[in-house]
Amino acid sequence: MKRVLVVGGGGREHAIVDALSRSPQVEKIYCAPGNAGIARQAECVPIKDTDVEELLRFAREQSIDLTVVGPEAALVVGIVDRFREEGLRIFGPTRAAARIESSKEFAKNLMERYGIPTAGYRTFDDYEAALAYVRSRPLPAVLKYDGLAAGKGVVVAATMEEAEEALRDMLLDDKFGHGRVVVEDYLTGPEFSFMCFVAGDKVSPMVLAQDHKRAFDGDRGPNTGGMGAYSPLPFLAPEDEAFALERIMRPVAEALVREGCPFTGVLYGGLMKTPQGIQVIEFNARFGDPETEVVLPRLKSDIYDIFRAVADGEDPGRTEWHDFATLGVVLASEGYPGSYEKGAEITGTEQIDGVVYHMGTALREGRLVTAGGRVMIVVCRGEDPEQARLKALAEVAKIGCDRLFYRRDIGCKAFLREK
Ligand code: AMP
Ligand code: GLY
Repeated sequence: MKRVLVVGGGGREHAIVDALSRSPQVEKIYCAPGNAGIARQAECVPIKDTDVEELLRFAREQSIDLTVVGPEAALVVGIVDRFREEGLRIFGPTRAAARIESSKEFAKNLMERYGIPTAGYRTFDDYEAALAYVRSRPLPAVLKYDGLAAGKGVVVAATMEEAEEALRDMLLDDKFGHGRVVVEDYLTGPEFSFMCFVAGDKVSPMVLAQDHKRAFDGDRGPNTGGMGAYSPLPFLAPEDEAFALERIMRPVAEALVREGCPFTGVLYGGLMKTPQGIQVIEFNARFGDPETEVVLPRLKSDIYDIFRAVADGEDPGRTEWHDFATLGVVLASEGYPGSYEKGAEITGTEQIDGVVYHMGTALREGRLVTAGGRVMIVVCRGEDPEQARLKALAEVAKIGCDRLFYRRDIGCKAFLREK
């Protein structure tokens, strides 16, 4: 029987813990730091996700068989490298492989060199040169700060004034730190998330999902960490999926092997179905959030076997998936992604007929309260996304808390016309 440590404390980690709890091989799950919802399924330990030395000590002390890393921050500080150095089994990419997410320039250069379809681009560290290039190109301009900026490093500027302001922030005022900017051609079409288990050149695809990044219905309002997701995606044909696997995900995994930084973990392709075919918008080096919350409930295979194989550099083989659709609606604190209050009481979660994954909650004197921007996600099943959406909306209405908001149109793109 196996003992597992999950690193992180959001909805993604709750879904990972939930999937592990379905494995007959897993006897004990710890989660660091976890949250109030995760605490019902795992033992939470108060260690920060980036405190690598403390996590190492804990894993050794508790004879952990496998550690699974959720957040990118832990990858970027080299948690996988350190655990491997110490001979401990860990699921996630090394710091060098995680550059596919942490450095936009690394990712774009790799794609260019290996002929992987992505928007044309140029990289700048000089403000005037960047501005001159943007002026010479059609609008909108896509400006990406090179580095992790918690989703805030990408600006799609519709006017020259907006582009100028963003370039000033990124290159003159060092708003995110001192770095470079990738200026990309603007692509159009529906976006989707393709996550694969990757061990070196072995690639095992998961089912597809679509995130909803804008705060409000109709894709309006500011970008967020994700307000909901669903799976599968009726707007994609089997040929699209085959193209994404054979022409994008597999070649990238092979390229990383050839570049001397083989990837182990979840490689996440943020892809777009453009009129010119499927193109890469970005890569992540980890499970997506909230995609994981709708994808893992569809996994039939034993996730421990997959994690163990990938962590050991072995082929995880073919994974089995349920046919039903899943759809998740995120409840977020009023004001998010801007400033918001914490500590509002939440009731009704035990009445939900579906799964509730906690994202930012805490227990205060035995009461469940909000403790983050995204608070929880309610995930329901259906024969198709439309049915799952109706179910999820009916269930979300059972949650009592007047400080939360959510989108009512998650999944609508699946059964209305594509945007
Ligand atoms: P990223 O952090 O790279 O995923 O970018 C955030 C969002 O910006 C994406 O989800 C897209 O909606 C948008 N975006 C990024 N790159 C492009 C592009 N080349 N063309 C159009 N939209 C883009
Ligand atoms: N849902 C987008 C992400 O995890 O980056």
